[in-house]
Amino acid sequence: MISTPHSVGVYVHLPWCIHKCPYCDFNSHEASQEKVRSIEEEYVDSLIDEFNFYQELIKDRIITSIFFGGGTPSLISPKLFAKLINAINKNFNLSETEITLEANPGTIDIKNFQAYAELGINRVSLGIQSFNDNHLQCLERIHTSIEAKYAIEVVNKYFKNFNLDLMFGLPNQSLDELKDDIDTAISFDPKHLSFYHLTIEPQTRFFKIKPKIPSDDDAYEMFNLVLAELKNSHFDHYETSAFAQPGHQCKHNLNYWTFGDYLGIGAGAHSKLSHDNKIFRMDNTKNPKQYITEVNKQNFFSNKASIPQKDLPFEFLMNALRLTHGFTKKTYSERTGLSFDDIKSNLHPSFQQDLLYEDHEILKPTTKGVLFLNEILHNLI
Ligand SMILES: C[S@@+](CC[C@H](N)C(=O)[O-])C[C@H]1O[C@@H](n2cnc3c(N)ncnc32)[C@H](O)[C@@H]1O
Ligand code: SF4
Repeated sequence: MISTPHSVGVYVHLPWCIHKCPYCDFNSHEASQEKVRSIEEEYVDSLIDEFNFYQELIKDRIITSIFFGGGTPSLISPKLFAKLINAINKNFNLSETEITLEANPGTIDIKNFQAYAELGINRVSLGIQSFNDNHLQCLERIHTSIEAKYAIEVVNKYFKNFNLDLMFGLPNQSLDELKDDIDTAISFDPKHLSFYHLTIEPQTRFFKIKPKIPSDDDAYEMFNLVLAELKNSHFDHYETSAFAQPGHQCKHNLNYWTFGDYLGIGAGAHSKLSHDNKIFRMDNTKNPKQYITEVNKQNFFSNKASIPQKDLPFEFLMNALRLTHGFTKKTYSERTGLSFDDIKSNLHPSFQQDLLYEDHEILKPTTKGVLFLNEILHNLI
């Protein structure tokens, strides 16, 4: 039996960026600030319509987190965030909710950040990527290192809880340069840090014209440097790419990684909702204008499908194995409605290969397993 969780996370997608970065395969569309101004109100009205449509399904749940992601949410006017948050607040109590806004250091306006804080947004995630101007240029970021540092100071003024996103394994990046990035990031005392290994994704410009990136061995050495430096500074490495000071793990992402329910609204957003003993997925159309048209036509359930039971172990583990502190068998059963014993024999090779271990009902990837999650998943099939 699949239990319907008491909580749900809400993801809101804001799909525009001033410039499309050559490595990015997120659903983001290049648009000037003027173009965003011309369409944002209509788009936010569609977000509210979509949220209202799904309210019935989540009405008895607690919204534990709201994540405004992108794209570049910090391009949107504060008054529209007010409209959106008020619409959600109407029937849900958000007093304990983690509300995160993703921001790009090239779009920082002090007045806006003060307004975001007054609206109840209580966490900001800044896309820094690197503090090195050569790397920022190569990544075609719209900000310099000085602007990135200024952005952190502005955010720090209004938000005690903020995350910095950085990437490593950048074209021609040296270990010393990475160490400078890590040290600089730590010097701002962020509550949370995300360090992503740059991946060259299909459908990006970096895929067509491949830059020279560090070899796998060099990237591994870089990752180990990140782990060691952050451990020295008492950050808990709780997920493959995520590090937090005590008590500051990202609730929104933890919900994804434990295969919790989430409602995703906006162009290209995905939802996963459990009800009637099934788990459903919904995927929205990616183009923002098309999205507005579909919402106007109330075309919400066009792509709703339940996840077949045979796929649930893979789907659960693909997320939960990212958690370095592991997951309990109880969570597995609650979220999938299946008994953990049913997959034990499929996981046996992973135990034997020292990729996975069990510690008092908690399953964890070993240090080697963290690097070979695909191998564990492959053993499952
Ligand atoms: C959805 S993006 C949004 C952040 C914000 N738009 C920005 O870039 O400033 C979230 C994060 O994913 C990471 N990211 C994006 N593309 C990546 C890639 N190809 N490889 C690794 N990390 C990536 C970046 O660190 C980025 O900050
Ligand atoms: S600013 Fe962020 S979301 Fe936009 S293109 Fe660059 S990485 Fe992608």
